[in-house]
Amino acid sequence: MKPEIGRPESLPPGVRRAVYAVFCWTNRNPRFWRLLGWVLRRWPVLSHLVPFAARRSAVQQVLTRPRSFSSTSHTPNLIAGDYLIGMDPGPRYDADRQLFDAVLSQVRPTLRQAADVEAAARIAGLAGVARHDSFDLIEDYLAWVVYAGIQPAFADAAGDIVGGARNARPDEETTRNYLREIKYVAGHLFAGRLAPLEVRQRAEVGAASLKARAHKGLGRLAAAWPGASGIGRNALLRNTVGLAWVSHPVTAQSGALAFQELLGRPGVYAELRDQAGQLGASVWTDAGFRREVRLHVLELMRFRPIFPLLARDVPRATEFESGARTNPKCPAGGSLTVLSIAASFDTHRMADADRFCPHRRWGSEADMQYMMFGYGDRRCPAREEAVDMITSAFVGLLTLPELTWADRWGARIRYDGPLISRMRLRTLRRA
Ligand code: HEM
Repeated sequence: MKPEIGRPESLPPGVRRAVYAVFCWTNRNPRFWRLLGWVLRRWPVLSHLVPFAARRSAVQQVLTRPRSFSSTSHTPNLIAGDYLIGMDPGPRYDADRQLFDAVLSQVRPTLRQAADVEAAARIAGLAGVARHDSFDLIEDYLAWVVYAGIQPAFADAAGDIVGGARNARPDEETTRNYLREIKYVAGHLFAGRLAPLEVRQRAEVGAASLKARAHKGLGRLAAAWPGASGIGRNALLRNTVGLAWVSHPVTAQSGALAFQELLGRPGVYAELRDQAGQLGASVWTDAGFRREVRLHVLELMRFRPIFPLLARDVPRATEFESGARTNPKCPAGGSLTVLSIAASFDTHRMADADRFCPHRRWGSEADMQYMMFGYGDRRCPAREEAVDMITSAFVGLLTLPELTWADRWGARIRYDGPLISRMRLRTLRRA
């Protein structure tokens, strides 16, 4: 096979590793994508050389033409089998989406409270630890808050899916294993075709054991999920496994990225902590404070999205409107990269897009506030719930004394490919 950058599997192993390392670096540095977006918006003619959609109008247009720019770009990276996110529109997509929406609407009424309760309990435990020692933001906190919010979606089958003794609540170690497994499966979607062999292998192992356990829970899910009794075991398995890996890791990681962004804005952090301090015990029930934290979470995520770009397959030859005098061509069988982060920083459409401004009046650009969840029909259907869980986690964190990095500069965050694997924090010891 002729080596091509667009076909990483055809590259020699050394080159492929180097490309993967560069990709991981860019993912951790959203400013790089913002800069590239700025360049492509300023000189759209360059889109003929670098076929990326960067203008807000181009991004919107591409993401609302699912027949020309297909989500099947995700399919080869779905190591646990096909799922909504990689399907083309059609009857199977519609049926799976209907099931997803029904399951989500069952969880919605309890999700926030479950996340709040878990956050408050974990924070009580961490308050002492953070003073003398450090804790891992994801493994010791965010992962549990998100787990508490989303796990009721699996109803009585939750124990089967996570593992451990039948009819018993899985213990913490078993749950940690499950969370690691779904992280590897989700991680493969990020790494995509660039994934090195070991990343692919562990994702395959994780997917296989997740599927094996999910099998055991299918009977219970068929009874618990609205409309699931008549859909067939394969469809039920596909949706169970898909929901497990699509929901948790990306939300926990996104929460960590948002907190990383907050730590880089000490004035904003201090202001939110002051407000939390004034509220005391009512921090969990004050609607105004909750709204304030939520707006901050959204703005922090805009600056540090987990998916700064999205990919789309091009099934048949087409063009996209980059803003250049002639449209860049998209050959059949190729793919197009959509710089969604660049769209939410498009100053042509919103003059202050570069400013950190949680209280911005979005007006007619309101959908830009959620660009980190995609756009159009395929936008994340759980975006409000995801922001709710991260907001609960943030409310808890804001009640702690000021947090800072536990590790020295350069080692503050450890990565596992494009994902965060370690992010330890401790309270600031003032002299
Ligand atoms: C902060 C957390 C999250 C972020 C940043 C996020 C981001 C995204 C993005 C960008 C897409 C669109 C992908 C594309 O257009 O190619 C998407 C799709 C999707 N997300 Fe999320 N997501 C999050 C949490 C969740 C959660 C908690 C769930 C499940 C409860 C979920 C379920 C889905 C599903 C099923 C799709 C596919 C929708 C479709 O194609 O119809 N996501 N997500």
